Amino acid sequence: MSSNNEVKPRDQWGSKIGFILAASGSAVGLGNLWKFPFMAGQNGGGAFVLIYFAILFIVGFTLMLAELTIGRKTQLSPVGAYRSLDKRFTWVGAIGVLAGFLILSFYSVVGGWVIRYIVKAVTGAFTIADPEVLGGLFVSFITNPIEPIIYHLIFMILTLGIVIGGISGGIEKYSKILMPSLFVMMILIMIRSLTLPNAMEGVRFLLVPDFSKITGDVVLAALGQVFFSLSLGMGAMITYGSYLSKDEDLISSSVQIPLIDTAIALIAGLAILPAVFSFGFDPEGGPGLLFITLPAVFSQMPLGSVFGVIFFTLVLFAALTSSISLLEVVVSYVVDEWKWNRKMASIVLGGIIFLMGVPSSLGMGLWSDIRPIMGKDIFDSVDFIASNVFLPLGGMMLCIFIGWFWGIDKALAEITNNGKLNFALAGAWSFLIKFIAPVAILVVFIQGLGIF
Ligand code: PHE
Repeated sequence: MSSNNEVKPRDQWGSKIGFILAASGSAVGLGNLWKFPFMAGQNGGGAFVLIYFAILFIVGFTLMLAELTIGRKTQLSPVGAYRSLDKRFTWVGAIGVLAGFLILSFYSVVGGWVIRYIVKAVTGAFTIADPEVLGGLFVSFITNPIEPIIYHLIFMILTLGIVIGGISGGIEKYSKILMPSLFVMMILIMIRSLTLPNAMEGVRFLLVPDFSKITGDVVLAALGQVFFSLSLGMGAMITYGSYLSKDEDLISSSVQIPLIDTAIALIAGLAILPAVFSFGFDPEGGPGLLFITLPAVFSQMPLGSVFGVIFFTLVLFAALTSSISLLEVVVSYVVDEWKWNRKMASIVLGGIIFLMGVPSSLGMGLWSDIRPIMGKDIFDSVDFIASNVFLPLGGMMLCIFIGWFWGIDKALAEITNNGKLNFALAGAWSFLIKFIAPVAILVVFIQGLGIF
């Protein structure tokens, strides 16, 4: 049922490196810099990292290749892609669009925090290393009913501004310069953090697993984090793959993107957790960890304020290269399916998502006693539903779709560019996608949600 007549001329990536940078740009973002370190901190450090790696190998690489394959095959965004291959799976694409809505709504709130911290750094606030003071500053900011929402709005306007510019004109151009700069900057900060007194305690915490810390919750958290960090499970990589040309090598791309993503997450962990132990912060400090800990590190660096400004600016760009991919999924759905023009779709949808993010921000302060799910505040509840339920569900359905409905042979034909490329791990990948990955996701899901 693959209908080539649905394929219309599409914007394409200007170059291979442009694509890798843009797709890594989607993957590398607040998930690596902000979420990974604090999730590791909250979920037992090394135990979480170990499980994260296991899931990365079983599910991460497998699904990255799967999504890029579906995208390039159909040259459509998720809903259209599923529909064109098998109508019964259209809803999986729709779940992805919904997940994009939800994730961007709280992502943009955190993006706003980053902008606030750039401003703080510019005004020279990073001269303090006292955990109490830094924690207090952060909390009084995020619990304010108005200020964080204004920054959330600014972040959303930046995101939709870039999306309006289109793929090669917007996304690709920025990624080329900013991704490598972020990498260099992170390394410098990591080095400073690792040379602080007592830093090795943080390294041990992050890298040496304490097996007694592994529970169903930890495993579900790690599963959700792999999906979130790699931008999998909602069709972001289907969308990006849809802009790839037919002679590109999907196999190497789906190895490179997860490797880059994981490297940055680990570097972020090694920049933040040693400092946590060195300055006496709480490793279980939660979403504030990045914002509370790193200013203390900057205070111990020559030209710390300058570093702070550059660093938070780069975090902002990393967040933007991810948020644009989230908005892109939603926008390309409306553009492809409802034939809206890109500009109008970006503005209207960006506006709606902004409004959806407001309760997440208010949930930090004014509405902090509203606890929709499992005692979590609004922000964490939206994150939980999107990252730990919708994304894994989307990923599992993709495995089932390829393995059992569309057919591994068709997938392999697309992956190898109709036999032109050699895919040495074809057998392993087929086995993973058909049996291991979907079962692993299901088991983690059931365990983590405590259904049994
Ligand atoms: N992977 C992005 C990050 O780590 C977030 C994201 C999730 C982007 C899902 C697109 C889709 O910040």
